[in-house]
Amino acid sequence: MEKELVVEIIELSNLGAGIAKVDGMVIFVENTCPEDVVKIEIVKQTKNYAIGKLIEIVTPSKHRVTPMCPMQKVCGACQIQFINYDYQLELKKKIVEDYVGVNRDNPKINVLVGNTIPSPQIKEFRHKIQYPISETKNSKRLIAGYYKPKSHEIVNIKYCPIQPKLCDNIIEYIREIASTYNVSGYNEKKYSGLLRHVVIRVSSDTGQILVTLVINDTKVSKNIKHFANDIFNNFDEVVGVCVNFNNKKTNLILTDNTELICGQDYIEEKLCDITFRIGSNTFFQVNPKSAENIFKYVKNYIKDNFDKPTIFDAYAGIATFGIVMSDIAHKVVSVEENEQSIKIANDVLKINNINNVELHAMDTAKYLENTPEKFDITILDPPRKGCSIESLDRTLKVTKSKIIYVSCNPQTLIRDLEYLISKGAKVSFIQPFDMFSHSYHVECVTIIDVE
Ligand SMILES: C[S@@+](CC[C@H](N)C(=O)[O-])C[C@H]1O[C@@H](n2cnc3c(N)ncnc32)[C@H](O)[C@@H]1O
Repeated sequence: MEKELVVEIIELSNLGAGIAKVDGMVIFVENTCPEDVVKIEIVKQTKNYAIGKLIEIVTPSKHRVTPMCPMQKVCGACQIQFINYDYQLELKKKIVEDYVGVNRDNPKINVLVGNTIPSPQIKEFRHKIQYPISETKNSKRLIAGYYKPKSHEIVNIKYCPIQPKLCDNIIEYIREIASTYNVSGYNEKKYSGLLRHVVIRVSSDTGQILVTLVINDTKVSKNIKHFANDIFNNFDEVVGVCVNFNNKKTNLILTDNTELICGQDYIEEKLCDITFRIGSNTFFQVNPKSAENIFKYVKNYIKDNFDKPTIFDAYAGIATFGIVMSDIAHKVVSVEENEQSIKIANDVLKINNINNVELHAMDTAKYLENTPEKFDITILDPPRKGCSIESLDRTLKVTKSKIIYVSCNPQTLIRDLEYLISKGAKVSFIQPFDMFSHSYHVECVTIIDVE
């Protein structure tokens, strides 16, 4: 293949890169969009595919828009922000269809994929921010932002349009005052320096903010205490500052070891008329308003088809699904392996006066192995890796009528659906939702018939 080529981008890959084809060879080109004509340089070629680097856009696609973020190309977070939003939604539907194999002779499963339900906000929707921290070589000023694509080089982000504006101000304040308290940025090659990450949780309802400073240490020094208090005192919205101890030589962001330094160690978030509590390390959907759409979709389905069912809520986090469904259920059992999340879920039950949700801090498959109970509905909301075979087998055993599978990874969703179908389950429709606007990520809800 020639080193430099002019090609037309014909589709988007599942990981958000444009795809061109030359003599049957697939070429992936990042930062391009279907219907772009682009000049590229081939930077890698294997037997099955090539990688092209964008040199010049010869004719821009009609789907292109000016990205709202000036750092879009260098920061790895919003791969497709330069594509207009309606078309992003179409592309996400197509990504799910591609995993299903809708347009192939032998699709993996026989289902229809719905139109992607948009996110209610496409700016300032992200309510969890995790910035890795390092420092400049000479001036030792903190660097905070996201990693460049496929690297561990931090892009120093001063403005990020997908998160609430106040987060930029907090991060800038941290950069400014760090040296006053001798707080250095982490060097992940030498495992030296103090501040590894700053994690910010923001409530979309109350605007409350919880800041967590992840430090490469095992105890809180006087300096860190003063540093945390300074952040706490400078922003009315910050209701608490915690320190998380992480001196592990891995990429893990937060350990289980968190200490509250000032204020409270949670924020309150209201979704579907329920007040939730979110701590430093609690799993909670990063786009609460889009998550609310998913809760409503699931709740409406259950309301329309069941009268006071029993519900098993697996991979429950702080039992968000279980708790939102509790008023239309006879009984809910929520199971989550993270003990801290189950403790918070317990508080949520108390403050909302809910009495029909049972909580278990346990592995899903283990819980299912020993339970004698059967449930009308099981809600599965696993992490990106999907469900284990044991969980799926045992879910089939305990579920009388429907499994509602909520997935953030269409690849593992389709794998798990194929398995369930091989065991006799029926699936006819997948509903995609946009939770992570401007990225290639897509969330799906699938209702599975096991009767
Ligand atoms: C995608 S989150 C869903 C959380 C919750 N359903 C929600 O909507 O907020 C997946 C959750 O599964 C939990 N988890 C992962 N593996 C698990 C397992 N084997 N058993 C129980 N929980 C697990 C994680 O800790 C995480 O809270």
